[in-house]
Amino acid sequence: MNHPFHSFRSLFPVLSNRVYLAACSAGALALPVSDAVDEYRRQLLESGTDWQAAMEKMAAAKEKFARLIGAETDEIAVMSSVSDAVSAIALSLPHHRQKNKVAFTDIDFPAIGQIWLSQEAFKNKITVIQSHNGMIDLAQIQKDICDRTLLTCVPHVSYYNGYKQDLKQIADIVHQKGSLLFVDAYQSAGHVPINVKDMDVDILAAGTRKYMLGIPGTAFLYVRRGLSRKFKPQMTGWFGRDGKSAFDLFDSRFAEGAKRFETGTPSFAGLYAADAALEILLEVGADRIDAYLRKLAGFALEYGAEKGLRIAGPQTVRNRSSLISIYAGDAAGIGAVLRERNVITAARKDVIRIAPHFYNTEEDIKQAIDEISALLH
Ligand SMILES: Cc1ncc(COP(=O)(O)O)c(C=O)c1O
Repeated sequence: MNHPFHSFRSLFPVLSNRVYLAACSAGALALPVSDAVDEYRRQLLESGTDWQAAMEKMAAAKEKFARLIGAETDEIAVMSSVSDAVSAIALSLPHHRQKNKVAFTDIDFPAIGQIWLSQEAFKNKITVIQSHNGMIDLAQIQKDICDRTLLTCVPHVSYYNGYKQDLKQIADIVHQKGSLLFVDAYQSAGHVPINVKDMDVDILAAGTRKYMLGIPGTAFLYVRRGLSRKFKPQMTGWFGRDGKSAFDLFDSRFAEGAKRFETGTPSFAGLYAADAALEILLEVGADRIDAYLRKLAGFALEYGAEKGLRIAGPQTVRNRSSLISIYAGDAAGIGAVLRERNVITAARKDVIRIAPHFYNTEEDIKQAIDEISALLH
């Protein structure tokens, strides 16, 4: 298969000596992203802190993430992790007796369940939407969401098997019952097209370290315009105030828009990285990345079946991302052997995950599947 992004490969040094297929865990580091972190480091070394430059980088990174998901910049907050973003929402979700239930799915990343189950305010008011074969039936959502459901959390793409949900259809169902829709987009943002307006998503969180090609320590939280105002953040700090009140100890007014969810000084290195990484992603384009990765996923499914491998989740590209999970028994052990052979994948529970990005080729997938097949048979 022709690789339409061949010219970008030289931007990712790890590709010259590894088959790197672990974007579901951490995207490959691109030279411009590394340079951006260096720029921040050099600035500190040579001229000391430059607060203004960091603030400008923060604004630029927010604007680019907003563009990536079809939002406006004032609908984006900078957080340090997806867990922090979910906790910020959980701690300040306005509820009352007729509207006090929260739902999440059993295919959510563990942090989502752990956070909601830790909330005293929602004790015994949690619904867990059950999956079948690692997938969620829309009829199940229809059945589980009721008029008392305040918020429904779903992952866009499952971290375990790459199953991709139709967010617009889910939004229609939960909105009919008067529930807000929260989307964990950590496994989709950066390679699966997202438009929060078309998909009618109310709140969305994603970190920058995986398909968004950044480094740990930076995540984004989208909150639909007009909705933020209803939240009075309990996890808070001076970044969540507007400029005038940030230095007033007793001013309890929050900033307008999603900014009110911000807390303290963010990871500037993470923001420099995020800005440079988003620049690359926006240049390549989510639609083009998606079209290419669908072809790679199709090849992986076909070639994996030919090699007798058992693949988790949907067996066609229709309801899945390009994350391909292969049942492997001792997945961690197999992943460690693959690493010794310079094939970098990501093990979770009983599966080895192959997670390509636009920089990967069909040959990368073939090599990984050949190695896995040889180890399993
Ligand atoms: C889908 C999903 N959500 C949330 C997380 C946790 O993100 P964080 O470590 O930023 O809290 C992960 C991490 O792998 C993930 O895959």
